[in-house]
Parts: sequence; C-alpha cells; structure tokens
Amino acid sequence: MTDSFTGKVALVTGAGMGIGYALCRALAEAGAVVALNDLNAELADQAADTLNRALGVTRVYAYPADVADVAAMRALVERLALRLGRLDIAVANAGITLFGRFLEYEPENFDRLLAVNLRGSFFTAQAAAREMVSRQINGRIILMSSVAGVQAIGGLGTYGISKAGLRMMARTLAYELGAYHITVNAVAPGATLTERTAQETANYERDWGSITPTRRVAHVEDIAAAVLFLCSAGARHISGQTLIIDGGWTNYSPLPPDY
Ligand SMILES: NC(=O)c1ccc[n+]([C@@H]2O[C@H](COP(=O)([O-])OP(=O)(O)OC[C@H]3O[C@@H](n4cnc5c(N)ncnc54)[C@H](O)[C@@H]3O)[C@@H](O)[C@H]2O)c1
Repeated sequence: MTDSFTGKVALVTGAGMGIGYALCRALAEAGAVVALNDLNAELADQAADTLNRALGVTRVYAYPADVADVAAMRALVERLALRLGRLDIAVANAGITLFGRFLEYEPENFDRLLAVNLRGSFFTAQAAAREMVSRQINGRIILMSSVAGVQAIGGLGTYGISKAGLRMMARTLAYELGAYHITVNAVAPGATLTERTAQETANYERDWGSITPTRRVAHVEDIAAAVLFLCSAGARHISGQTLIIDGGWTNYSPLPPDY
C-alpha cells in the first residue's frame, strides 16, 4: 500500500467491525488519520486501539454515535474536524439489514432501517460536506450501497430500497457538490464475508461463492481497495457513480439453492 493519503483526515461510520473496520485499516495504513465511528462505544474504542497497536502509531480515533441521530453526527463531525484539523474523506458506511418479507414487514423496522441507512448517510454526508466547503477542501464522499439496491432479493425489500436510494443520493450530491470540487460516489458490494454475514448464514462463503462468476465471495479488503481508489487523486474526475463490487454476480444474479 502506498502512503498517498498522508495528511488526509477521514471519517468512516459503522466501523467497529466488518467492511468499515477494513476501510479504517486501509486508510490508516495508507497514511490517513481516521475517525472511526460506531454505535457501540466500547467496540469503537477497541477497534481504534487494535488498529493503532498494529500500526505502531496513533492514527485512528474512536468517535461513537448513532448515525441516525442527526444532532449527534453534526456535533461529531464538528468536533473531529476541530481536533484533527480538517476533513478530506467521509465514508457513510453504517447500514443495517432487518430481514423480512413484504407481507409481514413492520413499520418500526421500516423506520429504523431508513433512519440508519438513508437518513443517516444523507446527514453524515451533509455534515461532512459543510465542513469541506467551509474549509475549501476538495473532499471525497463515499456512500455504501449494495447489490440489493440493484437486484430484488426476497426478504431484503426495505434494505434494497434504501440501498437503491443511496445510488440516487450519490448522483444528486455529485451534482450539487461538484462546484465545490467534492466528488460523491457509491460502492455496491455483493456478498462479502464479515463477522456478521458468516454468523447470520451457515455456509455463507461456500453458497454465495458457488453462484458468483469469480467463484468466491468478496473479502473486506476487496471493498476497501475500491473505496481507496475512489478517494485517490487519480479518481478526481469520477463522481455520481456506483461501483459494483460483486465478482460479476449482478450480471445474472442467481440465489443460493435454499434461499
Ligand atoms: N457484508 C455484506 O455482505 C455487505 C454487502 C453489501 C453491502 N453491505 C453494506 O456495507 C456496510 C457495512 O456492512 P458490514 O456487513 O460490514 O456491517 P456490520 O453489520 O458488520 O456492522 C458494522 C458496524 O456498524 C455498526 N452500526 C450499526 N448501526 C449503526 C448506527 N446506527 N450508527 C453507527 N454504527 C452502527 C455496528 O455496531 C457494527 O459494528 C453496510 O452499509 C452494509 O449494508 C454489506
């Protein structure tokens, strides 16, 4: 990994584990100072601590909060920019799934899912963009979509709606923030092996790997590599796009046999 992110400050939400944690590791290894957000304060502290010990230098700072709490996120972004001196990159990664078939879906789950995935991402991006604009920083904003926002998957309707919304969010924010030299893109991972997915579904890696053209599920490093590219200097003219990272799955989109 190069050190091309030295001098940059990044915020990653929902980063106590899984994809967000891998993003923090990749950004910090590449030289960035990273604000690691998670709903779970203890997990955020532990994650930052583990990363700093592995790096041998303190470059990751824990910033616990619920992304659905707009006031808390606004205060968090203000605080981190003051303490760390700037904000160059914001990755609105936090997202929840809350499975359920349409005919049985409860409004409480619908509201919470949209509050975290859509509203949380929107206002995290807004707080970050305000900081970037006021500091005249050519920032990068990344939204975490999913292949479930591209293809319908049973039981993932609300989740899919939120993830499709994030693709449109990237387009519209790219349009509005372009004048400030801020790019906004989304990434849409396919089946990705994380602590959560491995625990939720038995044989996750085997079953999803077998129906993916590349015959493997994504590892968190695959998603991190794409995000780092979109945040790199070389991607300065890419905005409003959704990069699908799924080993080719959405080209035909089969589901595992017992799904
Ligand atoms: N894992 C996959 O296969 C996959 C595929 C496509 C998209 N995604 C998306 O990628 C993102 C990360 O997925 P993951 O599987 O690594 O996540 P995960 O379920 O492992 O959660 C990561 C962290 O997010 C935190 N979190 C949950 N709600 C939060 C909130 N309201 N505020 C702040 N933090 C919160 C959790 O405490 C957890 O530590 C999500 O947006 C998810 O929808 C994941």
